[in-house]
Amino acid sequence: MTNPIKKCLFPAAGYGTRFLPATKATPKEMLPVLTKPLIQYGVEEALAAGIENMAIVTGRGKRAIEDHFDISYELEHQIKGTSKEHYLTEIRSVITKCTFSYTRQIEMKGLGHAILCGENLIGDQPFAVLLADDLCDSSSKGVLSQMVDLYKKYHCSIVAIEEIPKEDTNKYGVIAGNEIEPGIFMVKDMVEKPEPEVAPSNLAIIGRYILTPDIFDIIRETKPGKGGEIQITDALLTQARKGMVLAYKFEGQRFDCGSIDGFVKATNYFYDKSIKDDKKQEKKDNGKK
Ligand code: UTP
Repeated sequence: MTNPIKKCLFPAAGYGTRFLPATKATPKEMLPVLTKPLIQYGVEEALAAGIENMAIVTGRGKRAIEDHFDISYELEHQIKGTSKEHYLTEIRSVITKCTFSYTRQIEMKGLGHAILCGENLIGDQPFAVLLADDLCDSSSKGVLSQMVDLYKKYHCSIVAIEEIPKEDTNKYGVIAGNEIEPGIFMVKDMVEKPEPEVAPSNLAIIGRYILTPDIFDIIRETKPGKGGEIQITDALLTQARKGMVLAYKFEGQRFDCGSIDGFVKATNYFYDKSIKDDKKQEKKDNGKK
């Protein structure tokens, strides 16, 4: 079956204030975990899900993202034929496999608004949304690949969720619903950043979505909610009431790289993983000799 999800939208217009002063002149999405910027991990996850068209919603001061997904002729010239050339292998491969399109969110009016800004880049088709500051890793299929598989079965909007400590509900969109299959919930309620006492559950939405295009009209009609921002959570609740929205407990791990704690945890995790991979490779190479 061909992939029904052809495009992935990356809302990347936020200021990243929690990482100031690092994010004063550098987009948060360009902060590296080891040697790779957050947004490249996201693009690679989308590619692994069979999505080749990346639509990025940027803002002022985010030009480094466009430059990253382009060829740097000077650098290519300098590095060609040297022992350092392999450092560019991954990014070269990403650039040749994907197309990138960009639009700007002029005013930061919330995630729902950022997604609406991407409408012209997406058109009238279901699409994925990936927040690059939520860095995910799984031992089998990537989180977006898992969600694309689910979309092929249910043909409706899907949000990725994970269980969080109850005291953290006021940092997330939180869902309530009926479990129709293990780990798959039909959404009945959705609240943006509820206090723990009133949260409908401890199932929090993380930065992976598949949305059907009727969401754009719904966002247009959605009034500013929590924090005076246009919240995708509010629009999705409307969509759930009109039809069906699923919440999916993904397999794998997520790191909240929008927070310092999550960013450090991700760095340690990927560093340990890279050491293990290097050792495995070494063993393999020795075996060949
Ligand atoms: P966050 O609120 O976590 O990101 O938004 P932020 O505002 O950049 O970070 P802090 O809180 O100031 O440190 C979640 C995602 O939604 C995007 C952000 O870029 C981030 O990827 N976003 C949010 C937008 O693109 N536009 C908005 O108006 C709001």
